[in-house]
Amino acid sequence: MKIKRKNLRITDFREEYLPQIEEILKENFRYPWSSQQILSSNPFSVKKVVFYGDEIAGFLFGEVIFSEASITMIAVKKRLQNKGIGRYLMNWFVQLSKEKGIKNIWLEVSEKNKKAVRFYENFGFFVEDIRKNYYRDGSDALIMRLPVNAW
Ligand SMILES: CC(C)(COP(=O)(O)OP(=O)(O)OC[C@H]1O[C@@H](n2cnc3c(N)ncnc32)[C@H](O)[C@@H]1OP(=O)(O)O)[C@@H](O)C(=O)NCCC(=O)NCCS
Repeated sequence: MKIKRKNLRITDFREEYLPQIEEILKENFRYPWSSQQILSSNPFSVKKVVFYGDEIAGFLFGEVIFSEASITMIAVKKRLQNKGIGRYLMNWFVQLSKEKGIKNIWLEVSEKNKKAVRFYENFGFFVEDIRKNYYRDGSDALIMRLPVNAW
């Protein structure tokens, strides 16, 4: 069952959320990001978490650089997947990009991550390029792009 939007709240990432973010990454990825990767940021970083009640349900990290944006990571707690939380985070980021006059949103995803690829395609992302043997498990990276004005 989908979660009601009124129970979801997007806020800025804070260092104190690190353990919950690490937990979400660990349950979703064989090679999760290190804590340094989670904490690293630059002036272009966008780092948001989504709360479901008082629980961190997922997060979206990205960058907005002049007229281009990218998503470096989006993930939802396993127990709360397929309930519309990923869509909620993504809608928020696309909306932000629209407001900032961004032309394209870029991301990289393993060709093996069929669920995420389908999730992105649903938003209108398409495969722009392929990087062979990009990931540690030997899988290819799909470089996907969403033209924001087409959204
Ligand atoms: C990919 C991910 C962020 C999606 O978040 P989610 O909260 O599970 O997705 P949602 O419930 O918002 O689904 C949105 C849409 O994606 C599609 N989708 C979701 N789960 C799907 C599945 N198992 N199979 C096919 N399509 C699916 C549906 O079309 C859905 O549309 P709907 O709302 O009309 O049904 C989440 O599954 C996740 O954290 N995966 C592990 C981490 C990951 O791989 N991140 C991407 C790294 S690049």
